[in-house]
Amino acid sequence: MKVSIIGAGNVGGTLAQRIAESGLADVVLLDIAEGLAKGKGFDLSDARSIAGCNRSISGTSDYNDIRDSIVVVVTAGLARMPGMTRADLLKKNAAIIKTVICSIAEKAPDSIILMVTNPLDILTNLALHLSKFSPKKVIGMGGVLDSARFANLISENLQVPISSVEALVIGAHSQAMIPLPDFSKVQGKALSQIAGEEKCEAISLATARRGAEIVACLGHGSAYYAPSAAAYKMVRAILNDEKTVVPACAYCNGEYGIEDTCIGVPIRLGARGVEKIIELPLSAEDKEKLLNSAKSIKETVANLI
Ligand code: LAC
Repeated sequence: MKVSIIGAGNVGGTLAQRIAESGLADVVLLDIAEGLAKGKGFDLSDARSIAGCNRSISGTSDYNDIRDSIVVVVTAGLARMPGMTRADLLKKNAAIIKTVICSIAEKAPDSIILMVTNPLDILTNLALHLSKFSPKKVIGMGGVLDSARFANLISENLQVPISSVEALVIGAHSQAMIPLPDFSKVQGKALSQIAGEEKCEAISLATARRGAEIVACLGHGSAYYAPSAAAYKMVRAILNDEKTVVPACAYCNGEYGIEDTCIGVPIRLGARGVEKIIELPLSAEDKEKLLNSAKSIKETVANLI
């Protein structure tokens, strides 16, 4: 089994390590900067005897090497600098993504595309449009990361073990994300029952700000440990046909009243990609937020294509 990762930056490199060292799949790491991909490929391969890794890892700038990939993860593009929003990246990353997606469609037409590059929702819609793949096979990683951050902040705030927390964030992977205290659980109980409205609100706000908080701390580039862990979880669900329910940017056409737009919703993820979109009984307020986000994503995408 082979997974290709386009973009050998921090998310791409860390994801390659997670996939290969866990034994999940062979990895091809591709970057237009050939030296970067090759160098990281050599470095990761050199660690194999120590890590007990029997999977191959190679670096390349040749799209022929991604043939027969089951999943192609797209991390290529610029990362945020302090003070930038994910939307500020749109122009440059949309141009990069156009080339990347056309190459994937040509060389790995049967693959599932997992988008990671920001602005995530816009670029997932663009990837679906450009690849002409089935909507089940173009998915964006946003919700798993946002939910993991929500879980971490819930655990820290309420001083409960992280293993007792199940958190759910849907909507756009942006400041407009929608953490769902009614559908997040601590020791099996809804967060909204355990913590007051004010506390839920504060944790939700901190979750939405977490990406920018990390960018500001790092001073250069954005988060990659949690993003690569989130992408790994999704790749594993596909390769092992886990049919796990995860929040992800997926194509909605009627679900939640959203028309013809990819946005973060809970999906069942398996070998065929998006196997089902799960429709939660959202509050009127959250449903409206989701619809408004979908509308704004759709408008931005329409201006791009
Ligand atoms: C973040 C970037 C990866 O949320 O979108 O950290």
